[in-house]
Amino acid sequence: MFARNTARALTAPSARLFSSSSARQTKVTVLGAGGGIGQPLSLLLKLDPLVSNLSLYDIRGAPGVAADVSHVDTHSEVNGYAMENLDDALEGTKVVVIPAGVPRKPGMTRDDLFNTNASIVRDLAAAVGRVAPTAHILVISNPVNSTVPIVAATLEKAGVFDPARLFGVTTLDVVRASRFLASVSGTTPSECDVPVVGGHSGPTIVPLLSQVSKGKGLQGESYDKLIHRIQFGGDEVVKAKDGAGSATLSMAYAGAKFTNSLLRGLNGEKGVITPTFVKSPLFADKGIDFFSSPVELGVNGVEKIHPIGHLSAEEEKLLEACLPELKKNIEKGKAFVA
Ligand code: NAD
Ligand code: LMR
Repeated sequence: MFARNTARALTAPSARLFSSSSARQTKVTVLGAGGGIGQPLSLLLKLDPLVSNLSLYDIRGAPGVAADVSHVDTHSEVNGYAMENLDDALEGTKVVVIPAGVPRKPGMTRDDLFNTNASIVRDLAAAVGRVAPTAHILVISNPVNSTVPIVAATLEKAGVFDPARLFGVTTLDVVRASRFLASVSGTTPSECDVPVVGGHSGPTIVPLLSQVSKGKGLQGESYDKLIHRIQFGGDEVVKAKDGAGSATLSMAYAGAKFTNSLLRGLNGEKGVITPTFVKSPLFADKGIDFFSSPVELGVNGVEKIHPIGHLSAEEEKLLEACLPELKKNIEKGKAFVA
């Protein structure tokens, strides 16, 4: 009786989070699986029917997380790897999700994490390039605007960079935009699918409310407040956690959601489109070669990078504020590897 109830309780949320139109399954590796994001992300990936093997790695605690998650009654196999076994964790993996690195404390910017996280991400990317050079890499570690260029430059150095297989996970901005717009417009998040473009930090986060029916009427103070809340939603969580870290549970949800979108695309599902921070031609003429915009995911990863579409006058201003900051963040990442 208890087992049946438990199974039912797990089925409902996982059915909402994951969609699987295909039977093909895939090995997914989480680097940083013992952390605040890594643990709930590993649990959610264990619920994804498109994951056949879940490989959990961390410099601390991954075997314990793996033993725990492996008891969940879904079909995937789970293995945990300690610090010295990174290569084994990566062997044969198709998708690598990276939430390894330190989170913010109150008063810090994401860029303040650069000194610690840049080398963590670079070293993990080098290992992926060596052991699983055709894997798709999903970068969660901050500052995303810099860590994604770091991964690209590291793989480039190793001669294995394919821009179709590298993604900065900006899904949490999309999730927040949807949730917050639903609150102010008195509707449900499913009616508020807001494209969020640019990057992942403060003014580089550009929500395009004018492209959503529930958002286009907003103006004045309510518009400004909503934009600010989406751009600085991360700060809200950092402040509330009061020194104990940043968003972990909502990020795990967002990370699992993006991973499922990618797996559906890799499995041949058509029309899977979501914003993600990729190597992009959209603003390359301004010297900005990574940008988040709606991307169609397919069997090779990035299938098509969609343009950002028509912007309102307010959104033009937001974009103007985004671009120079984003450029600086990207150049900092590249310079670190060079
Ligand atoms: P955390 O400190 O709770 O966990 C990080 C984990 O990384 C730890 O378990 C640590 O042992 C591990 N780690 C450190 N170095 C490692 C290495 N070389 N190899 C493997 N594992 C390593 O932090 P968290 O709250 O899980 O956040 C992780 C990162 O994600 C932070 O940089 C944070 O800013 C970022 N983040 C990004 C988003 C986003 O939207 N992209 C959202 C939230 C947090
Ligand atoms: C977020 O948006 O919640 C993350 O980038 C973590 C942070 O530092 O705010």
